[in-house]
Amino acid sequence: MSVKNICCIGAGYVGGPTMSVIAQKCPHINVTVVDLNKERIAAWNDEDLNKLPIYEPGLDAVVGEARGRNLFFSTEVDKAIDEADMIFISVNTPTKTYGVGKGMAADLKFIELCARQIARVATTNKIIVEKSTLPVRTAEALKRILENTGNGVQFDILSNPEFLAEGTAIEDLQNADRVLVGRENTERGIAAAKKLTDIYANWLTPERILTTNVWSSELSKLTANAFLAQRVSSINALSELCEVTEADVNEVARAIGSDSRIGPKFLKASVGFGGSCFQKDILNLVYIAKTYGLDEVADYWEQVIIMNDHQKRRFAKKIVETLFNTVSGKKIVLLGWAFKKDTNDTRESPAIYVADYLLSEQAEVVVYDPKVPSEKVYADLDYLNTRSESENKSLVTVVSNPAEAFKDSHAIAVCTEWDEFKSYDWNSIYDDMLKPAFVFDGRAILDIDNLKSIGFDCYSVGKG
Ligand code: UDX
Ligand code: ADP
Repeated sequence: MSVKNICCIGAGYVGGPTMSVIAQKCPHINVTVVDLNKERIAAWNDEDLNKLPIYEPGLDAVVGEARGRNLFFSTEVDKAIDEADMIFISVNTPTKTYGVGKGMAADLKFIELCARQIARVATTNKIIVEKSTLPVRTAEALKRILENTGNGVQFDILSNPEFLAEGTAIEDLQNADRVLVGRENTERGIAAAKKLTDIYANWLTPERILTTNVWSSELSKLTANAFLAQRVSSINALSELCEVTEADVNEVARAIGSDSRIGPKFLKASVGFGGSCFQKDILNLVYIAKTYGLDEVADYWEQVIIMNDHQKRRFAKKIVETLFNTVSGKKIVLLGWAFKKDTNDTRESPAIYVADYLLSEQAEVVVYDPKVPSEKVYADLDYLNTRSESENKSLVTVVSNPAEAFKDSHAIAVCTEWDEFKSYDWNSIYDDMLKPAFVFDGRAILDIDNLKSIGFDCYSVGKG
């Protein structure tokens, strides 16, 4: 029998868009997305599609099409679990902040809670799909929890890691390069995998649906991100070298990327990578390698993170050095707070680090981001615990209209590559600012020659 009812636990950046696209492409399947967070579910159900809890281009149209037809958002977790034939687990797996593996291992408490809840509630056989990024061999732990319930229900566990990038999630899902389905090589495992493969076959051709064993699937997710992050750290390492040799990192990236063996993607020098996956997945990989005593392997991947931290610090330091080694009392505008354009996600965003560095130097920081609300900016800074909440409030101003930001500022630092920054009227911004006026372009998106001709002093990563 094919799948009729899907339940997805976790209505976040992964679960929300993924289930919306499955519901859109499979009108014959009921998809219920559940979450403990009532406000989040209320926002998913908001009449006004501009109020969905996550911003993702094209998501509103997909939700608008499927919601109420075969796509539902609910807080009734038990009911949705019980009714489903297939349950996706899309809860968050942040890096552990306590105990063994602190700062490296993935915190699996949310996954374990889900497994216990499923085990308690289920009265019929279920296929459980790991969607969250998990350290290799998590499926084994899941299986043990599920099977120790003893109420006769059978569970088949599949790994189906997400490869969507935020900002392009809908396109990545609708036109995926590949989906991975990891399964046990047993009759039941193969049958369960077939049911999941059949779902994706509603819109993807068979050669894009890869079947592997569960451990390969789990490890592929971590390592795909590690390889991508490694490219960003590689080009960022070169950006520093370019700055001292007068090579231009964009030209170098173009030259490297034209080699078809290397290819053009993920070669944009930046203020450093952010997002919920890269750092977490690499730390996970490092932790797993260390656990097996593979120190050289661990050190190799850890260097990708060390390079990324260096790049963020280097950018912040550059700002201070250029402003005559003191930013105390100076007003610095940060354009962009999200970790990249076209998302309202700020997890591990380099902007947070840059702001923190500048605040420690007693700068006055003004933040503008087209999609991130002020509460999020303050919460991100408070989370660092570098200074008190009241100090963050008094030193940082968040504006919703960029025009309010520039007046009497000393410098602007572009931290996220939002397209709208490119079309600003830089002449009038220059007039509003104190002189000399500085622009620090962390993502190399602005026309530096034009800015220089207006009168700005400019720095762009990798261009000196
Ligand atoms: C990533 C993976 O791409 C996706 O497959 C996975 O499932 C989740 O993690 P995401 O975190 O949304 O997706 O963003 P991605 O587009 O991969 O970018 C990650 C970071 O690298 C961003 O901060 C981005 O700005 C930065 N980056 C990317 C660069 O600095 N330069 C580049 O050339 C590309
Ligand atoms: P991701 O980027 O992995 O999607 P998010 O943090 O955006 O991460 O989303 C994960 C969601 O999972 C959160 O909205 C959280 O409330 C939800 N969640 C975590 N644990 C549970 C649980 N046991 N039951 C239901 N929802 C959960």
